[in-house]
Amino acid sequence: MKRVALLGATGSIGRQAVEIVATHPELELVAAASGSQPVDGLAPLTQVGGDLTELLERAEPDVVLNAVVGFAGLPATLWALEHGVTLALANKESLVAAGELALDARERGGGLLLPVDSEHSAAFQCLEGRRADEIDSLVLTASGGPFRGRTREELEDVTAEEALSHPTWQMGPKITIDSATLANKGLELLEAHFLFGLPYEQIEVTLQPTSIVHALVRFRDGASLAHIGYPDMRVPISFALTYPERAATPIEPLDFSRGLVLEFAPPDVETFPLLALARKAGEDGGTYPCAFNAANEVAVAAFLDGKLPFLGIAETVEETLGEVDGAPARDLDDLVEADAVARTLAEKGLPVA
Ligand SMILES: NC(=O)c1ccc[n+]([C@@H]2O[C@H](COP(=O)([O-])OP(=O)(O)OC[C@H]3O[C@@H](n4cnc5c(N)ncnc54)[C@H](OP(=O)(O)O)[C@@H]3O)[C@@H](O)[C@H]2O)c1
Repeated sequence: MKRVALLGATGSIGRQAVEIVATHPELELVAAASGSQPVDGLAPLTQVGGDLTELLERAEPDVVLNAVVGFAGLPATLWALEHGVTLALANKESLVAAGELALDARERGGGLLLPVDSEHSAAFQCLEGRRADEIDSLVLTASGGPFRGRTREELEDVTAEEALSHPTWQMGPKITIDSATLANKGLELLEAHFLFGLPYEQIEVTLQPTSIVHALVRFRDGASLAHIGYPDMRVPISFALTYPERAATPIEPLDFSRGLVLEFAPPDVETFPLLALARKAGEDGGTYPCAFNAANEVAVAAFLDGKLPFLGIAETVEETLGEVDGAPARDLDDLVEADAVARTLAEKGLPVA
């Protein structure tokens, strides 16, 4: 039996994880947590809000599935890595923000870090067992979101409702907006760098509008491996929770008789600048990725509240990155401070209501 602690149990990933756990008798949900919605009865131990590491201490899990949204997931990520407990990570923001601190914790803890993000789960599977010198480059795919192909002018007045209707994935509101701005792919670029230890110049992003190809690795011999399947988060969730077994799921395999469109195109980084801003934040290093994430969280919340236009999200992030010092975080206190400074700067830059 594998003891699973599920954080963010009421969210999009969390609900799908509950479904996966229910279909695998070898998985036992020992703890469940949310931010504010009730989780009573979901697991023997539950917690709403507060310090999630207290729940993890009591639960003694074998696997922590961190599906909290945003920087709030950071303490749980660090707890699992530090304790050598397998971390199934959906909460990309924590790895992006903590970067080297998270990797140091993994080094000390010695446990597994298994990505749940579909692109990174796919990349993990293509890269597994390969040496760094065999790899030419990693290609992350993006659907392009609901506004793919639009001009900046056409994006000036888009509403939260329009931005929330994603063409291929059903997800929580924050990541759906991040997909519409391409900030999500920016976060994923940073996430991939930390997960796989690849330099940024070896990570490319391409649009693949049907979300069938989840990631692709080019090798030095000219061969490329791609991970393909219908877009369904239960696949990477199940992969991470049952690793290395690759247990069965109810998801249908690809059916070629229905036809399959595999189109690729470069992303439009002029219209969607957050991808390029994330790349620059990663290359600049230090706490720039943390600041990118913090400013983006503030801006997305403001957009969803109707306080910031869609194009203002990237502007807020760009201005914040121009104002922070990006000094590396020596410890968690430094990181929390860098996050707080970036949030304050981002909030100051929001239009006055
Ligand atoms: N959805 C996807 O398909 C998908 C795909 C790849 C990666 N991800 C990543 O997975 C994470 C979760 O995404 P989602 O779409 O599932 O988000 P979501 O639907 O908004 O769910 C977020 C979950 O986090 C909980 N939460 C929020 N703040 C918390 C706090 N301070 N303490 C404890 N729990 C808190 C929420 O609890 P309440 O309900 O009580 O607020 C909810 O259970 C994100 O990092 C996202 O980028 C998601």
